[in-house]
Amino acid sequence: MNNLEFMYIQSLLLEKLGISLEDSKEYLVQSRLNPIAQAHGMNNYHDLVKYLRINKDNTLIKSVLEAMLTHETYFFRDVKFYDSLKDHVIPEIIKNNRHTKELKILSCACSTGQEPYSLAIMLTENFPELASWNISIKAFDYSANAIEKAKSACYTSYEVNRGLSEALISKYFTNNGKHWTLRSDIRNLVYYFRANLLENLPDVSAADLLLLRNVLIYFDLDNKKNILKSIQTYIKPSGYLFLGSGETTLGLTNELTKVRINNCEGYQLLLS
Ligand SMILES: C[S@@+](CC[C@H](N)C(=O)[O-])C[C@H]1O[C@@H](n2cnc3c(N)ncnc32)[C@H](O)[C@@H]1O
Repeated sequence: MNNLEFMYIQSLLLEKLGISLEDSKEYLVQSRLNPIAQAHGMNNYHDLVKYLRINKDNTLIKSVLEAMLTHETYFFRDVKFYDSLKDHVIPEIIKNNRHTKELKILSCACSTGQEPYSLAIMLTENFPELASWNISIKAFDYSANAIEKAKSACYTSYEVNRGLSEALISKYFTNNGKHWTLRSDIRNLVYYFRANLLENLPDVSAADLLLLRNVLIYFDLDNKKNILKSIQTYIKPSGYLFLGSGETTLGLTNELTKVRINNCEGYQLLLS
């Protein structure tokens, strides 16, 4: 891949998704774009990039962006985090919201659904009193393919075994050959939609709990700041934000304060 071709893909990702692709990721671009080129009757990524630079074909651009996204995720990713939610955060929200009996959760960049479904399973397992509550778990991702898979709630044996115990698998999934499908009552707790973190979210009100996990790492500094600024508007004054375990708001915003919850760090809005 020559330098200009790589820079074109870098600028596409930055402009459309805010994603900053390191110079060392040239091999990744080649391996992910070759199959798209071939599916469209072209020889290789050289032809694909050349075609895109001349034609600005939006459907093909979407396929390129899709191909460049990383969807790594698994059930109950970071057990300490889910334990903190179970032992501290959810009980506190239940106490605060006992009069309205409403619980709102937003899972941003949810990939193929393991994150919001882990939340739904955790709530069902541990908080039977929520059965009479109005629970809203909304989840979104830019990737149409990831959202389609999340909605299907259908996973391979490898995927369910990443993070779920045998007891939880047999309690919440049915096996149909090679695949495992999540129980419909759990599936129906989550509402999925497609959205771009760089844009306003459609029809989303402030949440008690907002997850923005393992995605900030992909953005450049300005977009990290912009995303945090806009995402703050979707957190209730008493609500919580959680990032991935290796991520921080340090140097990105002064409007959030760090709170230590058990072995985990979350954030709350700084009240003025
Ligand atoms: C590594 S996954 C994280 C999944 C999950 N939050 C977790 O922690 O397991 C990152 C996800 O961010 C999504 N993503 C990347 N850029 C995005 C953007 N600008 N808007 C919305 N989603 C985006 C990708 O499609 C991908 O599914």
